[in-house]
Formats: sequence, C-alpha cells, structure tokens
Amino acid sequence: MKIKNICCIGAGYVGGPSMAVIADKCPDIQVNIVDINEKRIRSWNENDLSKLPIYEPGLDKIIKRCRGANLHFSTEIEKNIANADMIFISVNTPTKKEGYGAGQAIDLKYVEASTRKISEFAVGETIIVEKSTLPVKTAETIKEILESSNKKNKQLKKFYVLSNPEFLAEGTAINDLFFPERVLIGGESLEAINALSSIYKNWIEISKIITTDLWSSELSKLIANAFLAQRVSSINSVTALCEATGANIKDVSLAIGTDKRIGKYFLNPGPGFGGSCFKKDILNLVYICNHYGLYEVSSYWQGIININNWQKKRLTRLIIEKLFGTVSGKNIAILGFSFKANTNDTRESPAIDISNDLLKEGAILSIYDSRVNYSQIENDLNKNDKLFNDQSKEGKWSYQKDIYKTAKNADAVVILTESDEFKVLDWSKISKNMRSPSWVFDTKGIINMKEASVQDINIWTVGQG
Ligand code: NAD
Ligand code: UGA
Repeated sequence: MKIKNICCIGAGYVGGPSMAVIADKCPDIQVNIVDINEKRIRSWNENDLSKLPIYEPGLDKIIKRCRGANLHFSTEIEKNIANADMIFISVNTPTKKEGYGAGQAIDLKYVEASTRKISEFAVGETIIVEKSTLPVKTAETIKEILESSNKKNKQLKKFYVLSNPEFLAEGTAINDLFFPERVLIGGESLEAINALSSIYKNWIEISKIITTDLWSSELSKLIANAFLAQRVSSINSVTALCEATGANIKDVSLAIGTDKRIGKYFLNPGPGFGGSCFKKDILNLVYICNHYGLYEVSSYWQGIININNWQKKRLTRLIIEKLFGTVSGKNIAILGFSFKANTNDTRESPAIDISNDLLKEGAILSIYDSRVNYSQIENDLNKNDKLFNDQSKEGKWSYQKDIYKTAKNADAVVILTESDEFKVLDWSKISKNMRSPSWVFDTKGIINMKEASVQDINIWTVGQG
C-alpha cells in the first residue's frame, strides 16, 4: 500500500504540527488538514504567519515551506476524505460534561462524527489512523461504525484501523516530531502498519518505531500521560515537605534524579500540571478502571489529580497568608497565564484556578502573558463566574502588555510559568515600583535569586524551606 494522499480530520495542536511535519518530510505525499472550524482554517491559511492559530516554535517556517505545495488546510471534509488513502483522526476528546460518565469518561462525539463521515465518503481501500488520545477499545467502535456503510452500499469499501498516538508536548512540538523517542503503531493488519511505518521511516530510525496490537497502543498513551503527571504530583507533594522541613526541592530533585532508575526529567516543581490532556486522560483512566471493577487501581490514579488540585489551592492559600491573611483590594501581578512556557494554550492552566481564587478573595490582578491574548483570558476567567456566590466582593483584573507595568504598585508578583523572560527580570526596577512590604511568589523556582534577594522584596520559592 503506497500512500500518496493523506487527510487529517482536526486542525488543532496535534493535527496542525504533526501533519505539517509529515508534509515537510514526505514531499511526494499530499497532506490535507480539514476542520469544521472555519475560523481556525482561515487562520491556518493566513499570509501573516504570526497569525497562525497556534504558537509553536519552528512551526511557521514549516508552514512557509509546505503550505500550498503539499500541505493544505480546508473545510472541504467530504472531498478530502474521498481522495485519501490514509485518514488521521485528530479531533478533540474532552471529558464528558453531562450524562452517563460525566466528569470522567471521554466524550467521543467528535470521533464518532468524524468516523461516520469517513464511513460515508471514503472510497476503496483506506487506512484510518487514531491520532487522538482514546479510551482503550475505541478502535472496536470505530471499526463498527466504518463497516456500517458497507451494509448499506453495494460498493464495497475496505478499512484498516490503526492506533498511532501522539506524544508531542506543546512548546516543543516540532522538535518532538522531528526527533521522537519512539513512534507507536498498534494494529491488526501488517500491510497497514507497514504503510504507516514507511511514512515515518522517511526521517525516523526503524528501531524507534514500536508496533503492537491495537489495545496495547491505545492504553500505552493513557498510561504514558498518567506516569508523567504522576511525577509532577510526586515532586509537588515533596515541595510541601521541603517547605515544612527546611529541605530544598532543587537539591532533592538533583539527588534523586541522578539515579538512572528514577531519571532527571519531569522533576520540576510548580503550581500543578495543566494542559488539555493530563487531567482528562487520568480521569478517563479512573473511569476505565472503575468500569472493570478495579477500584483500588482507580483510586491510586485519582490520587494524582487530588494532589494536583491540592497544590493549586495550597499555593493560593499561602499567598493570602503571606499578605497578612487578606488580598482584598490588593494589587497582584500574575506573570504567565498559559499552562506552560512557549505556548498560547491556556487549557487547564493552573493560572486560571489560582487567579479565580484570588479574585474571589477580592484581589486586583494585573495579568501578563506575551503569548495569550486578552479575549482568551477573559474567556477563561469568566467560565467559573457562576461559582461565585457574592459577585459584589469579587476583585477585578486587567490585561498588561509590559511586565514592569504589570508589577507597578503591586503588593505581590506571582510567577506561574517558566517563560525565559521571567528568568532575566530587572528586580531593582520591579521592587522600586511595588508597594512595601512586597512579595514575589516564584511557583516555578526560576528567578535569579542572587539578583532578586538583594532588593527590598520578600521572596517565596516553591519547595524551599
Ligand atoms: P484541538 O481542540 O486543538 O483540535 C481538535 C480540532 O478538531 C478542532 O479544531 C475541532 O474543530 C476539530 N474537530 C472536532 N470535530 C470535528 C469534526 N467532526 N470534523 C472536523 N474537525 C473536527 O485538540 P488537540 O489539542 O489537537 O488534541 C487532539 C487530540 O490529540 C486529543 O485527543 C488530545 O488528547 C490528543 N493529544 C493532544 C496533545 C496536545 O499537546 N494538545 C498531545 C498529544 C495528544
Ligand atoms: C504532555 C506530555 O508531555 C506529552 O507527551 C503528551 O503528548 C501530551 O501531554 C498530551 O497528550 O497532550 P503537554 O501537556 O503539552 O504534554 O506538556 P508537558 O510538558 O508534559 O507539561 C504538562 C504540565 O506539567 C505543564 O503544566 C507543566 O508545567 C507541568 N510540568 C511538567 C511540571 O510542573 N513539572 C515538570 O517537571 C514537567
């Protein structure tokens, strides 16, 4: 099976970068990324590359090289499905908000809608690739929906379903796609697995391509995210112990991480993990474990989320306590609103919960994030409006474009992402403009302590007793 034409359904944080890299590395393959969101597709087709819908270092250069040649963004879903030999499903898979399994199970409605379209419009032999992160056994549902068209139509269609989860992290997506530690392909048909492998082999060593059955591949993606999130919760739980005992989290991370069996990565403390996936994927894992009656296993994984929620609350409480037990009417500068540095993505960002809790206490927030725009923050902070019982006591927030203005007259500066620009701040300039006694809460442990500590500010750093 030689692949000449790819269609990817879903032009998001995964579909966009992953297909752009395939187009870049495989000039002989036409890659069409389709989406129901017209605005998003318009942004992908913007001449001004600073207006692409997602920010990823290096992505603009690839789009410049490939767009219009063998990479296309469009809303013509049916036509592109019909022309494709291989179709990636890369749509969103959020946690169900209502109904059976709400708050835990994955809402598969976008996957189902895409699969129905494929079933109806695909022509001849087509390989369907699950790129979205899915509950284990979803391929069974996909196969069933795909086959339904054969029951109605005389024209026989042949489908092969593969699982090929994506492991890229936002902010480093292009590098992760160019140099992945592994590519995972699960499937039943060797022919289909080989067709997908031959695409990746254009730039990835064969030894890095792992092939498994469908269920192991689907489950591995959930478990990979659960293990990563587990490390963040583990180190964050230790920050509290360090603060209580006088130990230093940086030394503890170094000391444990130099043991190869533990490893040095993903041991950075912070305000809790954010992002669109860790929480939803663990909740899904919890749901699946409960479904199979594995209650002890489910409560083990639920613990990772509990610690994450606790860390966000703990830090908010700590800020309030340090500011003499009240933040009502006090100016607080929030530096960093996305869920991590180098992305404009704010989904599940700890900054949302921490800002909302401070607003509930009556704080006046100045928010700065060079990658996140005003309307995104407004949208995120308004989502929880209904939770506030007494809105008259609520604080206010403003959007800032200059870090130093953000900190003007502030009682406290709260650093919530590890953005490079926060590592080189001029603390003498900041401290002069703050109200005394002034505080810096470094929830990521990134500021230059040598420079900051000589200024007239109190510094609190996560995990430092
Ligand atoms: P996203 O929300 O950024 O993009 C999904 C896109 O799918 C949206 O633009 C949406 O309009 C489109 N879509 C939904 N239904 C559609 C339909 N029926 N037809 C056409 N388009 C449709 O989501 P994302 O962050 O790219 O994540 C996609 C999947 O990849 C999820 O399952 C996620 O768990 C997984 N994943 C995400 C990341 C990440 O870093 N964001 C990394 C690895 C895996
Ligand atoms: C994560 C995984 O790293 C990817 O492999 C996976 O493909 C992706 O989820 C997904 O399935 O969506 P991502 O969420 O983009 O990627 O970013 P991470 O770098 O993993 O960070 C997640 C959160 O953990 C961030 O809030 C980050 O600040 C936090 N984190 C990470 C820490 O607090 N400490 C660390 O040491 C590492």
